[in-house]
Amino acid sequence: MLGVIRFVFLLCGIAISFFRDDVERIWRSPAVLPQGDAGLKGVIPTTCHSHNDYWRPVPFFSAITAGCVSIEADVWLIENELYVAHERSEIVPDRTLRRLYIDPLVELLDSKNPVSNYRSDAPPRGIFDTRPNQPVTLLIDFKSGGVETWPQVVSQLSPLRDRGYLTYYNGAEIVPRPVVIVVSGNAPFDILTSNTTYRDIFYDAPLAKIEDRELPSPIPDSRNHPHHVVHTHEPFAPANSYYASASYKKSVGIPWLFRISSRQLERISTQVNNAHRRGLKVRYWGIPSWPRRLRDHIMSVLEKEGVDILNVDDLNSVAHMDRRHG
Ligand SMILES: *[C@@H]1O[C@H](CO)[C@@H](O)[C@H](O)[C@H]1NC(C)=O
Repeated sequence: MLGVIRFVFLLCGIAISFFRDDVERIWRSPAVLPQGDAGLKGVIPTTCHSHNDYWRPVPFFSAITAGCVSIEADVWLIENELYVAHERSEIVPDRTLRRLYIDPLVELLDSKNPVSNYRSDAPPRGIFDTRPNQPVTLLIDFKSGGVETWPQVVSQLSPLRDRGYLTYYNGAEIVPRPVVIVVSGNAPFDILTSNTTYRDIFYDAPLAKIEDRELPSPIPDSRNHPHHVVHTHEPFAPANSYYASASYKKSVGIPWLFRISSRQLERISTQVNNAHRRGLKVRYWGIPSWPRRLRDHIMSVLEKEGVDILNVDDLNSVAHMDRRHG
């Protein structure tokens, strides 16, 4: 039985290469922004999380014109510069975090927030005109050592920080801004939490480890409880984390016979509830990407269950591999 199913999946993998145009059409269509933010007009932000798309000229723009509110970059520290690449061997001199992500983000936000419109009491507008309060998340996955990479990430974010574009924690509450920085991989949680009065970098908490237990006080909300104290000592709370993420295949399980079992559905619902109760957003990665009908089915179930962010990395990496080897 297992062998047969593996074989079917293998066939599907071969089949996908024949639908390459299809795949490329979906993930490439909103290409690079030609001029300013023209390509962003009317874009409705969605739950999509874009990853592994460094082969595009400006991956940041491809992601946001597709409406993705979450963008991931794998970073490597090499001689005081941060490069984005899946593997160390794929590093190319001009593919840096600064050039591909931070600079375009600063430029776009500057265009949305001209100095002439400046009002000291209003937070800056976000990148989506259709929903100016919608933040965009930059998930920085540390591929190199956490202790060495951390200070460079902190310092490279300063153009965003200095302009007031970064969501931050001020020791008591979260102050929402147009960009949320989340770190994962080798990112050091202890360093992240060491400053108890200011944080603008948040952790990608392990969804599978978040226990189902009551927090000692309600989830903080800066609008309703401006003076509410966020739990600094509670691991994986909004004061230090933003996402709670897990591999779909590992934490929910493979949908045998193309169905989500009732046990799997229960697991999803429990994980979503546990994370939401802590004020964290749920993100699944490693969602089976083929057949497409199955993927769409899983995506719709996850959305219905309240999952906040859906990774599209599998399809992207398929398109990516096609291009590299084709
Ligand atoms: C925390 O960060 C703020 C802002 O960068 C800084 O002024 C402060 O000195 C830091 N505190 C500690 C204990 O490092």
